[in-house]
Amino acid sequence: MSTITVLQCQSMKEKGEKITMLTAYDASFAQLLSEAGVDVLLVGDSLGSAIHGQRTTVAVSMDDILYHVRCVAAGNRGALLIADMPFMTYSNLTQALTNAARLMQAGAAMVKLEGGAWLLDTVAQLSERGIPVCGHLGLTPQSVHKLGGHRVQGRDAKQAQQIYEDALALQHAGASLLVLECVPAGLATEISCALTIPTIGIGAGVECDGQVLVSYDALGLSPNKLRLAKDFLAEQTGGIRAAVMAYVAQVKAKQFPAAEHSFF
Ligand code: KIV
Repeated sequence: MSTITVLQCQSMKEKGEKITMLTAYDASFAQLLSEAGVDVLLVGDSLGSAIHGQRTTVAVSMDDILYHVRCVAAGNRGALLIADMPFMTYSNLTQALTNAARLMQAGAAMVKLEGGAWLLDTVAQLSERGIPVCGHLGLTPQSVHKLGGHRVQGRDAKQAQQIYEDALALQHAGASLLVLECVPAGLATEISCALTIPTIGIGAGVECDGQVLVSYDALGLSPNKLRLAKDFLAEQTGGIRAAVMAYVAQVKAKQFPAAEHSFF
């Protein structure tokens, strides 16, 4: 069993092969998703809503993510494993280095942080110390109270310019991947063309270098039906494995996301 690496993600972008990512929170799903061909597993702080039933990700702790990283690492069969750094666990450099190291020692191969300019030094220091970083721009759910809700970001020119500049700056600081969440498809396309590192979209149109969904949204388990998601289990009658394989196939073929799952 070979494991997908950060270099393979980079080469997939260069070859134009779409990268598939889904969230995973336990060993059984990690095994199923990785065996079904998902390239990247994200232990997302979306577990705050998916597992804990909270309305936001703000209450998710390091201990929560560490527990789920260990579960996912045990079941993973070769996907790149990314762990989210929870709210306020990377608000200063020392804290970020300590907490990122704990996630890597628990089994992650990359950490994901939400934010732009204020994070550049942290991204550089993590990356220089051998910890690959995935950035996250656009709708950053840990800032939901500041943003005034889970809303599309970058619709006005000033905000779009800021997201674009933050994306370039994160790459320059050493980020290896970048999640773009709920931004207009045109902006995500511009950023994906401008960056050499892969972009992974969620509600960001089909031109990102890869796609991510909360697995519960992709399987119709979440109570809220989101525009950006699709229920692959409802579409496939062969069960969860078939649904995940359909997600992988449709992302690779650029059939998902369609316009109806994107913002403009
Ligand atoms: O927490 C999460 O699952 C995420 C994805 C939605 C990108 O950050």
